[in-house]
Amino acid sequence: VNHLLGIKYLKEEDIQLIFETADHFKEVINRSIKKVPSLRDITIANIFFESSTRTKLSFELAEKRLSADVINFSAGQSSVKKGETLIDTVNNILSMKVDMVVIRHPNPGAGIFLSKNVNASIINAGDGAHEHPTQALLDSFSIRERLGSVAGKKVVIVGDILHSRVALSNIFALQLQGAEVKVCGPRTLIPKYIESLGVGVETNLRKALNWCDVANMLRIQKERMDLSYFPSTREYTQQYGLNSAILKSLDKEIVVMHPGPINRGVEITSDVADSGQSIILDQVENGVAIRMAVIYLLASKIKQ
Ligand code: CP
Repeated sequence: VNHLLGIKYLKEEDIQLIFETADHFKEVINRSIKKVPSLRDITIANIFFESSTRTKLSFELAEKRLSADVINFSAGQSSVKKGETLIDTVNNILSMKVDMVVIRHPNPGAGIFLSKNVNASIINAGDGAHEHPTQALLDSFSIRERLGSVAGKKVVIVGDILHSRVALSNIFALQLQGAEVKVCGPRTLIPKYIESLGVGVETNLRKALNWCDVANMLRIQKERMDLSYFPSTREYTQQYGLNSAILKSLDKEIVVMHPGPINRGVEITSDVADSGQSIILDQVENGVAIRMAVIYLLASKIKQ
């Protein structure tokens, strides 16, 4: 398969190959070799229909470090504004001899739809509340880096599970690697199907934190939500916000993660986000090596 559409379509060995390839690229970057000539004959289009800081910039950096040619498309400044469809937009870009498309889109399944309708390798950089596969890969890679392995670890994903593509991709990735996963948050933000995935549900934050080795704190995605069933921000922070008082009261030291962007003082306080227990900026750093690995492995199939 020449696409990365979701973790759902990967096997455990695919994840291990991506991690071994990312290990190599991270080691190369750490030796201050910031560019390798691997993909000089590949052209990649980054097509973003939603805002992004980390994903967009780290894909672009990963592509440039692999020596690919890169073009960037933001829907807001494009002829999408004049009514051009997704398929027409992408086919016009592909006619410029583009080999690979990285797409972020508000509609779940946008990447899958494109993979069936255009002739290019597709990487899903986040499709609505569905999947964000490279985020889950860099999250697991960061847990492996901090704790030595993912297998056997207990991970709790806290917050707005209902609207989160990060949660679903993380659940698939962590379970494939043999981690135990729970979600924690208000019932209104936990989808009904979650237990059918073999995921535990805990509505009490302290209990969830006492159970876990790793807590992945999610942002409340107000842009995807019917605000009538959301608790107030103050109520949410009181019950589900992570602060240093709760962390210090736990039986053991846990690892704290967040995919970003952070709402400081809402789901996580600044002192926790910036503490030694937080691997938030390691996650961002690892995003470049993970995306280099994904692009490199997909491009090697294009070249065959
Ligand atoms: N984690 C993440 O996807 O961040 P951006 O929305 O800034 O890309």
